[in-house]
Formats: sequence, structure tokens, C-alpha cells
Amino acid sequence: MTKGGKRHAGLDQRATRNARASDGPDVGVARRAAIERVERSNQITAKPPTGSTTSTPQSETDHPHPPNAFHHSPEKNSQQHIEEPTESVGPTRQDAVLGRRTILTGAAAAAAAAAVSKPGEAAAKIGLWTTIVETYRDRPVAFVEDLLLKNYPGFKIEKWQKRFLKAVARGERRISVRAGHGVGKSAACAWALIWFMFTRFPQKSVLTAPTESQLFDALFSEVKRWINELPDFMRQQVEVTSNRVFLKAAPESSFMSARTSSAERPEALAGVHSDHVLLVCDEASAIPEPVFEAASGSMSSFQATTILISNPTRNTGLFFKTHHELMASWFRLHVSCVGSRLVSPDFIQQTLETYGEKSKAYHVRVLGEFALAEDDVLIPAELVDAAMGRDAVLDTREPLVYGVDVARFGDDRTVLLKRQGNVVVEYKSFHGFDLMQTCGWVMNEARNDTPAEIMVDSIGLGAGVADRLREQGLNIRDVNVSEVSALSPTASKLRDELWMSVKDWLAKRQCRLPKSEELKMDLVGPTYSFLSNGKLKVEAKADMKRRGLKSPDIADALCLTFAGAAAMIGGRAAFWVKGKPLQRNIKGIV
Ligand SMILES: Nc1ncnc2c1ncn2[C@@H]1O[C@H](COP(=O)(O)OP(=O)(O)OP(=O)(O)O)[C@@H](O)[C@H]1O
Ligand SMILES: [Mg+2]
Repeated sequence: MTKGGKRHAGLDQRATRNARASDGPDVGVARRAAIERVERSNQITAKPPTGSTTSTPQSETDHPHPPNAFHHSPEKNSQQHIEEPTESVGPTRQDAVLGRRTILTGAAAAAAAAAVSKPGEAAAKIGLWTTIVETYRDRPVAFVEDLLLKNYPGFKIEKWQKRFLKAVARGERRISVRAGHGVGKSAACAWALIWFMFTRFPQKSVLTAPTESQLFDALFSEVKRWINELPDFMRQQVEVTSNRVFLKAAPESSFMSARTSSAERPEALAGVHSDHVLLVCDEASAIPEPVFEAASGSMSSFQATTILISNPTRNTGLFFKTHHELMASWFRLHVSCVGSRLVSPDFIQQTLETYGEKSKAYHVRVLGEFALAEDDVLIPAELVDAAMGRDAVLDTREPLVYGVDVARFGDDRTVLLKRQGNVVVEYKSFHGFDLMQTCGWVMNEARNDTPAEIMVDSIGLGAGVADRLREQGLNIRDVNVSEVSALSPTASKLRDELWMSVKDWLAKRQCRLPKSEELKMDLVGPTYSFLSNGKLKVEAKADMKRRGLKSPDIADALCLTFAGAAAMIGGRAAFWVKGKPLQRNIKGIV
């Protein structure tokens, strides 16, 4: 027996068992036949079969409830579907003919190269393709069970994953799944993509996610993993590259392409046209709106199926809308971690204990629900997480700015944070430095980096640090954050204005922060309120300390780096003259 033959040993029995579980009895016969043919395919090279080269078309009576995978019906999609769909059991005669024709086109191309020298092999392959298409075109669950999970006897497709796969097979054109962490979202999408590729021709699929790591380390790596599980005959038909999978015989007509989605490059899903189109957006909640706007042509094309699947991290954007005002035109599923076999109860318990049952974290990460209301924290954790995972590129033409927050009390830290354009390059913090040590430390860093500006918090001890550094010839700006905000009509003090600048900067979703739990804690710490004059006030440090939070020194240093921008916006910034203090009329920045 060949290696491939061994891989398929015992498939007959499992097919019968699986078929009974997920299809009607008649379908089991078709599946067993298909698997036998796949098994035989592993011996094709050694011994071309002599019989018929195409499979016998299945009669309509074999398949009493025909779905229509080739012709999507828009009326069907205008309703809200959330209930369990009926099982797809097989193709209509029309579909069989169409399926045969379309797949033969692909299969003929696939076999063409071999046909000249090995006509028997080519013919057998065409027959095998036909069988696979006719058996599995409308049965993705069976496809996954028979062809992908054969080496994973204990691996059971989750109930929601079945509903999801069946929705794609049924021809739902707009599918949106909100779910908790680790419930099998990426795996389900990978299965759908592979099944789609092997049962439709021509077809173009695009898989996308907001960052390279979410796309290539999660979804695309899942696709590659499952492609490797395909029977030899099928796996040999496709070529896998770093960002693409394509049918070797027809690379332009049948492929899946992995492209990241970002606001700067919104064209990831644009201009995808084919007889069959599948657009899969993993972590869709964080995909910027311009990407969907640019994709509207591809998404609204009659043959396209769009899948949005995500942790519901944001209460705005298309993904949010598909579960609210647009719900009537999307097939929706909701999957919680609670009760999922794939999620460890520890994760659920820990999130519950750390954040509480009513928290945004528990709702979004565990329950897979949108947060009930945005917390009153100024900067949502989701914005910080997104910035810490983003691939924003450092633009070295941007000026490097230092923010120096000098410790005022015993347990505070002195922090030096470096920001260049949209990227926080790094930060360093120290406890217990005296003023001269702080000055020496900043000077040493500045000697290596030659920053364009150094913004120093000039309240209290910071004023002495600023003076000394200026004396040394560095480009220092003293920032007094307790002054009234000069530029913002909505912020109370300069401190409030700078915190709002940081929030806005994060909300633009183009920036990058270093991965750091303490920076995250600092940023998401303060709450905000409105004063009687309607101006926004960020929670005072003293109040935060009373709540048991640390002084947000790292975040304060980040805020300081925006004081320069604040001065520039006012148009009153002067060029710095080496060795001289900057003189400003702006309150708070001298
Ligand atoms: N039905 C299943 N049975 C067993 N394991 C599964 C099943 N589906 C997925 N897995 C495995 O569970 C793990 C988590 O799955 P996956 O990455 O698809 O989850 P996810 O919801 O995308 O997670 P995240 O929220 O982190 O993006 C993976 O190792 C995957 O292979
Ligand atoms: Mg995932």
C-alpha cells in the first residue's frame, strides 16, 4: 500500500459513521464512493484504472432537498437567519451538469500536462475530480470530515462551525459571526476556503485581517496546515506560496490570496471578480472602514460571498452594524466561549475574576458580545491592544521627540519616552534618581539619538531638570500641564488636552506602541468626566491613586510628546536657537 493509501485506511468505516451523523443515508453512499475513488487515486500513478473515465451523474431522487450553490438567491439573504439551517444533501441535475462542466474545465486543465504521456492517468484524474465535486460541492461538513480530519480521529467539528459551513454552502452571500476568543473561528474559515477552492471553478478567494500577524500567523497558517492534510491527489493540484494558494493548472482562474487590510492600503478586497468569489475577513471588527468602502464593488457582486468573523471589539464600523441596523441582510451567528469545548475554563474564570462579569473584557473576549456601553475610561483597552499589535512602519523622516516625566513622589517613576511620528520607539523608566542623575541620563540618551525636541514636565522638580538640560545645549521645552488649555475648546487643562491628543492619535489606528503591560495599564487607567462648563477633565492622579492605581508616568511621558504638536497647531512655534530657552505665549508651554 502506498503512503497515501495508508493515510486513507479505514476511511470507509469513518465515512459511513460521519455520513450518518451529518448527511442523510443516501448521501453516505455517495461519500463512501467518493472516498473509495480518492483512495484508489493514490495508486493511479502505479496502475491507471481501465474503467469509465467519468462518474455516473447522480439522479435528483438521490437528493431530495437540492440547494443551489452555483446560483445564489438574493431574496433568501434578505431575511435574518440565525436558526439551524436544514442539511444540504446534494446537487440538482442542473447543478450536476454545471458542476461537471465547471470542474471538468479545471480538471481538464489540471490533467492536460499529464495527458500526453499518460492518458489513462489524466482520464482517471478527471473522473476523480468530478466525483469529488459532485459529492462535496454542497457538503462542506462532509468534505472537512472525510478529507481534512482523517488523521484527527478525536477532532470533532463544533456545532457552530457546521452551521457556519452550511451557511456558506447554502449560498448565503453575507455572513457575520461574532465570537469569543479561541472558539475555532480561523479554523472554520480555513476549512471554508479550502472546500470552496476544490469544489468551484473558476474561483477567487481573498482572506484578510487587520495585521500581518493576525493574517499570516493565524488564518493563513491555518489554511496551510489543513491543505497539508488533504489527500495526496488533491494537495498535488495546488501550489502554496507565502501569501497565495493556487491551482497549478490554472493559477489565474483559481486561487486564494492573503492580503492585510489597513487604512493606508484599503484595496485588499477591491476588484475581486470571478464566477465564484469568497471574501473572508478575520478579526473584522478591527478592519478599518475604508477597506470595506473600497471593497463594495467586490462584495456586492452577484456571485460573491462575504464572511466577517471577529471578536466584537468595537461598537462602531461595519462589523458592529451587521449585528445591529444591518442585521436583516446578514446571516448572523454568535459563539460564546462559555460552553465551548475548545476554550479552557481557566481563561474564562481568569477574565471573570480580573475584570468582572459586567466588564467590557468579559463581554467581548469571553461572551463574544459587544460591550453593553463604552466604559467611562478615556482610552479603551482595545485601542491600546490594536496599537501594540499593529505593523505601522517607522518613518525616519519624522522628528524624534522625547517626553520626560520627572518623578515627584517616592513611588513615582522618572520616565523618558521616545516617539517618532506614529511610532513610540521605546521608553525607559527609573526609580529613585536625583535631579543630576536624571539630567545625566537624558543627556546620554540624547547624545546618541539627537532628538528634535525634549518635552519636560516642568511642574516641581521637572523645572530644575529642564533648566539644567537647556544649559547643556539641548532643545528643551518646559511643559506645565496644570495650565489652562490654550488650544482645545473642549479640554479643561493642558493635561486633559494632551490625554485627548493621545486618544485621538490611537483612534486613528495608524500608530504603533511597544508591547508593554505597564504602558497599557497606564493608558487605560484614567476615567474622564465633564465639568459644569462642559469641558472634559481627565481623572486626577490623586483620585487614581485612591482607586489603587499607580501614577500613569509612562502615559504622562507619552502625553508630553504631544505638547510640541499642540504648540505647532497654534502656529506660534518658533525655531529653536541652540543654547537659548524657548519663549512662548502659550499658557502651559514656555
Ligand atoms: N472543531 C475543532 N476541534 C478541535 N480543535 C479545533 C477545532 N476548531 C479549531 N480547533 C483548534 O483550536 C485552536 C483555536 O482555533 P482558532 O485559532 O481557529 O480559534 P479562533 O477563534 O480563531 O481564536 P482567536 O480568537 O485567538 O483568533 C486551534 O489550534 C485550532 O486548530
Ligand atoms: Mg483567529
